[in-house]
Amino acid sequence: MEPKSNHITWHNSNLNRQDRYTRNGHKSCALWFTGLSGSGKSTLAFALEKALFAENVNSYVLDGDNIRHGINRDLGFSQEDRKENIRRIGEVSKLFVDAGMFIIAAFISPSEKDRQTVREMFEPEAFLEIYVKCSLEECERRDPKGLYRKARDGQIPNFTGISAAYDIPENPHIVIDTEHLTIEESTRQLVEHLRDRNYFT
Ligand code: PPS
Repeated sequence: MEPKSNHITWHNSNLNRQDRYTRNGHKSCALWFTGLSGSGKSTLAFALEKALFAENVNSYVLDGDNIRHGINRDLGFSQEDRKENIRRIGEVSKLFVDAGMFIIAAFISPSEKDRQTVREMFEPEAFLEIYVKCSLEECERRDPKGLYRKARDGQIPNFTGISAAYDIPENPHIVIDTEHLTIEESTRQLVEHLRDRNYFT
């Protein structure tokens, strides 16, 4: 999308991602978590952030619930609002990646099309889609915030998995099966994936 005004000029930095990579000792990448409410996205995101910190890797979590308290507090859960939610987070993630960091974006991001749009904002190496896989039955059994119960009672409209769609990722880079793995195992798998893909020197 073009800026609203024609009188906007792009300014280039004197540094690029490679400069920051050389100085930081690691690459930068958007780790885009997608999965149902209750699948473990936030828990895993914060566990991974801590594990990366221990490896001296700069990372930061953008989490759906948290972001909706601030920058996206004007957005609800209609298809249009979710699309805008994901677009804005994609843009913010790009800034972090450009700054040389790992961004861990934990959003339901239910639409395959919206996820594809975000993916296309990045160079291929700088974006990994991570499907936090957990069945609706198990998410509903966990129901950590009591939202599924409320959604079944009709108190929450457009609830993902109940009254709004979730598109199962068609070609995620990584699948983490949180239904059968502990948080520690899931975190370890993710760190190993990143190491195997040479994101750390
Ligand atoms: S989305 O679909 O990507 O725009 O959603 P996201 O920004 O990740 O926000 C999801 C969290 O919002 C709470 N919540 C809902 N989720 C789904 N559907 C509806 N209608 C809804 N209303 C509120 C819920 O706590 C989600 O958090 P998680 O961590 O996913 O459980």
